[in-house]
Amino acid sequence: MCKRFDENYEIVHNKKVQSCYFELRIKMGDACKCCLPGQFFMISVPGVFLRRPFGICDVDSEEKCVSFLYKVIGRGTKILSGIRSGRLQLLGPLGKGYDLKPLTSPVLGNNCTYGSSSNIIVAGGTGIASVYFLASRLKKKGILYYGARSESDLLYLDNFHKLGWKIVLSTEDGSKGYEGYITDILSKQLMSESTIFACGPVPMLKKILQIAKEKNVSGFISLEEKMACGLGNCQGCAVKVDGQNKMTCKDGPVFRIEYVEL
Ligand SMILES: Cc1cc2nc3c(=O)[nH]c(=O)nc-3n(C[C@H](O)[C@H](O)[C@H](O)COP(=O)(O)OP(=O)(O)OC[C@H]3O[C@@H](n4cnc5c(N)ncnc54)[C@H](O)[C@@H]3O)c2cc1C
Ligand code: FES
Repeated sequence: MCKRFDENYEIVHNKKVQSCYFELRIKMGDACKCCLPGQFFMISVPGVFLRRPFGICDVDSEEKCVSFLYKVIGRGTKILSGIRSGRLQLLGPLGKGYDLKPLTSPVLGNNCTYGSSSNIIVAGGTGIASVYFLASRLKKKGILYYGARSESDLLYLDNFHKLGWKIVLSTEDGSKGYEGYITDILSKQLMSESTIFACGPVPMLKKILQIAKEKNVSGFISLEEKMACGLGNCQGCAVKVDGQNKMTCKDGPVFRIEYVEL
């Protein structure tokens, strides 16, 4: 039976993958069986008051390990990146992930399923972490549209290639792929019979909502709001969904594209 865990887990590794990006691999035991793409864990960082939220990047069911991919941006992630071994307290898996059952859409009608439409993943920055787990679990491969500031911010490209996904890249400085935002290319190439799965910064997600509306395309976006409790208690991560206040941590972080208001 799946449940939420709050335990002290052993670090398998916590290593730099490139520039300011790290991969944290945790030996998790039975908690692995309960992880769904789009869900996240709150990780306790020693000496830091609030736990920090990180999306599940990968689950190795054989080794019973969960991996996270994170960028060092502030105090919590800086301290975390300095820890090489030992144990960490993790709470999760939390939130609602992607609904991988057949999709029925008010926009596209009841016949639209993941099987019949093209799967399009759109990732911006560290949004790539949570969509990797999703890509590895989607039966039908598709196209990854992935934008970052610069070439040194593009992660896991080999991993996506190995999964068999096509990749379209953009960087803001033009160092790799198209120069500019990934949504500029997406808006030109997106076919109406697609399903979008997106995770990234809010300006990117806002643009995706607009593109999806224009092209009558359905799908999901995953939000990375600031979080304090991660459990729906503090009301600190509210977002408007279908005219109502929802908690990103408890009701999301994955929401249907048609209903989110950003
Ligand atoms: C559901 C979810 C999944 C996430 N997954 C990833 C991931 O896979 N990889 C990754 O690199 N980052 C991810 N983030 C963002 C990550 O939580 C922040 O980068 C991290 O909390 C920053 O902590 P800090 O102490 O280094 O930064 P500080 O800026 O010092 O943090 C201060 C406070 O702001 C919050 N905060 C700061 N930036 C963010 C942010 N962008 N999103 C949410 N909270 C923030 C922190 O939780 C903390 O409470 C995710 C966020 C959420 C909500
Ligand atoms: S983080 Fe506390 S309610 Fe969502």
